[in-house]
Amino acid sequence: MISEKQRSAEAACEYVKDGMIVGLGTGSTAEFAVKKIGELVRNGLSIRGIPTSDATKILAESEGIPLIDFSETMFIDLTIDGADEIDANLNMIKGGGAALLREKIVASASREEIIIVSGSKLVQQLGAFPLPVEVIPFGWQVVFNQLESLQGNPELRLKQGQPSVTDQGNFIVDCHFRKIENPEQLEQHLNMIPGVVENGLFINLCTRMIMADGENIIIKNRNLN
Ligand code: A5P
Repeated sequence: MISEKQRSAEAACEYVKDGMIVGLGTGSTAEFAVKKIGELVRNGLSIRGIPTSDATKILAESEGIPLIDFSETMFIDLTIDGADEIDANLNMIKGGGAALLREKIVASASREEIIIVSGSKLVQQLGAFPLPVEVIPFGWQVVFNQLESLQGNPELRLKQGQPSVTDQGNFIVDCHFRKIENPEQLEQHLNMIPGVVENGLFINLCTRMIMADGENIIIKNRNLN
């Protein structure tokens, strides 16, 4: 039996069409999509991919997916990526895998951003999952202090006892807000702190959520009034 992650990923791949530039997400759910796209490419599909992390780049190359970067295009037709939490407005927390910065740039350049999740990722209110904040190494302690003042209960992400370093050479501070009342406001507020490069709140970026819940596939499109 295939997992919910794989089922949502494969449903999303049905939106990938010949000639598209496709953003390739990061994480265990997006990995299924990259592998499926690899299979489609080997069967004749012609697309070019833009990966959201070094790990995805390595996987996509091993799958034989032709890759480009933003020196060749400003726009992406479709991106398929995962999320750590998603709410009914399709706002999200991302960055559990530390790829939030490239993921947000890719999402912002995408005409369509399909988010693939298993049922457990859908929440009433964002914030139970720690919100990743990417900070430059210089003066990270100052940023940390400000995140503490915002009641963010910050925690420097570590790997083998050392600060975990992102693909862009930055650190991650995970914030335990627990309940985020106003995600739009918090996203902007965090990004105004000097030293913060980006944070994991993705607001109005997801255009379509594909959620696998047990045997069911639930598709929700963003209301673009
Ligand atoms: C990577 O930085 C993240 O934004 C992932 O997309 C997110 O953490 C989802 O990962 P999983 O699919 O592994 O849960």
